[in-house]
Amino acid sequence: MRKGKVLLLLLGVLVMTALLVAGCGGQNAEEPEQDQQQAAQEQQQNDEQAQQEAKEEQGAEKEQPEEAKQEEQASGGEAQGEKEEITYVSSDEKAEGCVSCHIKVSEEKDYTLTAEMAAMNKEFNHPQLEVEGPQDCLTCHQDGDNSLDKVLHKAHLTGEENHFVSNYDGSCVHCHTLTADNEMVVKGLAQDVELQVIKSSSKDFGKENCNSCHRKVSEEKDYTLTAELKAMKEEFNHPAMEVKNGEDCLTCHKPDGDNPLDKAVHKVHLTGEDNHFVSNYGGSCRNCHAVAETGEMTTKLK
Ligand code: HEC
Ligand code: HEC
Ligand code: HEC
Ligand code: HEC
Ligand code: HEC
Ligand code: HEC
Repeated sequence: MRKGKVLLLLLGVLVMTALLVAGCGGQNAEEPEQDQQQAAQEQQQNDEQAQQEAKEEQGAEKEQPEEAKQEEQASGGEAQGEKEEITYVSSDEKAEGCVSCHIKVSEEKDYTLTAEMAAMNKEFNHPQLEVEGPQDCLTCHQDGDNSLDKVLHKAHLTGEENHFVSNYDGSCVHCHTLTADNEMVVKGLAQDVELQVIKSSSKDFGKENCNSCHRKVSEEKDYTLTAELKAMKEEFNHPAMEVKNGEDCLTCHKPDGDNPLDKAVHKVHLTGEDNHFVSNYGGSCRNCHAVAETGEMTTKLK
């Protein structure tokens, strides 16, 4: 029954993609790689289907008591229920970031960054320049409302009918990934670093903040941050104390200190084999981050 529905949905998406491609007549300068995209989507859907099946098999195992062990996190009924629909994007799918998508497909379909600059020049008089990669943007897009993160988050993640959202799942890991040292970077901007492959969906199971997941389900299943600190004390002598929310971690894990909070939490949630944040919560950045229509990115700490 459910499988039937999923297939129907996939079929719908395929048909819509086909219509979209046909309707565009290949003239839309804002859709890098539309042709390849269709193939990629079909591929993705096949993967998704395979994943779906794997998940369903896993689903049976989930019932077994051994799964209720300590490190398994609080998972509300909703999270478990939606689990079957998780689609992952891998950070090595667009290994080079910007320039994996912004390529010249044909004379009419030039999506290179230089062509995007020319299109924006026509549209709103953006400086016209030859650019090779995102490092060339930083000379002008330093900070404030025109900072590179804001303009790019806005261009790719917001607005109605955004093709990055519809065709590429709005995935953060098309641009971002972790270095071997668990530093979150932008592919192409970070030079000479070894990158990890991470997989991530675009779901949001962390509606409020860390406490959406880190709560006390029962006496035996206490996943509050306070309980996590206690568990980490036993594990590797992490300081234990009462905390209200993620903001309380910043007193020690200062943004510009040796052990910033982003590194610590990215590591525990996004890396390692058999990570339950990845398997049960889609490894999704949106569980902790939210983007506003202005392109402003926030972290749901309190
Ligand atoms: C996974 C593919 C993908 C990646 C990776 C990607 N983009 Fe894009 N980009 C798109 C799509 C799709 C659009 C069109 C969005 C829309 O519908 O408006 C776009 C739009 C743009 C635009 C046009 C904005 C406008 O207002 O016209 C610029 C500039 C741009 N991208 C730069 C970048 C840079 C710089 C990077 C890397 C940091 C990057 N892109 C990474 C797919 C990608
Ligand atoms: C020579 C300076 C300069 C360089 C280099 C530059 N930009 Fe810009 N960009 C601007 C200015 C100035 C604006 C604001 C234009 C406006 O709002 O009228 C802008 C605006 C934008 C916007 C639209 C922001 C919005 O509010 O919608 C995007 C997207 C953008 N730039 C992307 C890029 C990317 C990607 C690169 C590098 C590949 C780049 N720019 C390189 C000066 C530059
Ligand atoms: C099109 C490429 C692109 C996509 C997609 C993208 N980012 Fe970014 N992001 C950037 C760039 C470029 C920067 C600026 C990096 C720099 O200046 O060093 C950035 C910076 C950031 C920052 C730090 C600055 C800030 O605003 O606090 C956060 C947090 C962030 N991104 C989160 C995300 C999340 C979460 C997603 C998905 C919901 C996402 N990004 C999707 C390109 C992207
Ligand atoms: C969507 C659910 C979800 C959200 C939101 C979430 N977490 Fe987690 N967290 C998990 C899961 C699941 C794990 C277990 C990962 C694993 O399998 O190791 C975890 C693990 C941890 C651990 C690791 C404990 C250890 O023993 O290694 C800490 C600490 C932690 N989270 C803190 C946070 C903080 C701080 C925030 C908010 C910034 C947050 N979490 C947001 C689900 C979540
Ligand atoms: C009183 C100071 C203090 C507070 C508050 C604190 N931490 Fe830590 N944390 C540390 C220190 C010190 C380490 C390094 C421990 C070590 O590696 O020996 C650490 C390490 C960690 C690590 C392991 C990082 C790694 O590289 O493996 C995680 C995860 C972590 N903290 C998460 C948190 C979270 C989440 C909070 C808030 C709920 C928090 N910490 C609050 C001091 C603190
Ligand atoms: C469990 C919660 C959590 C998840 C999941 C998470 N982040 Fe973060 N992220 C944080 C926290 C906490 C910070 C540090 C606080 C801040 O900067 O607001 C941070 C900071 C960042 C920064 C800024 C780092 C810097 O050095 O300036 C980027 C970029 C970023 N995250 C991107 C991502 C991307 C991309 C994903 C998904 C692949 C992701 N995050 C997933 C909690 C999370």
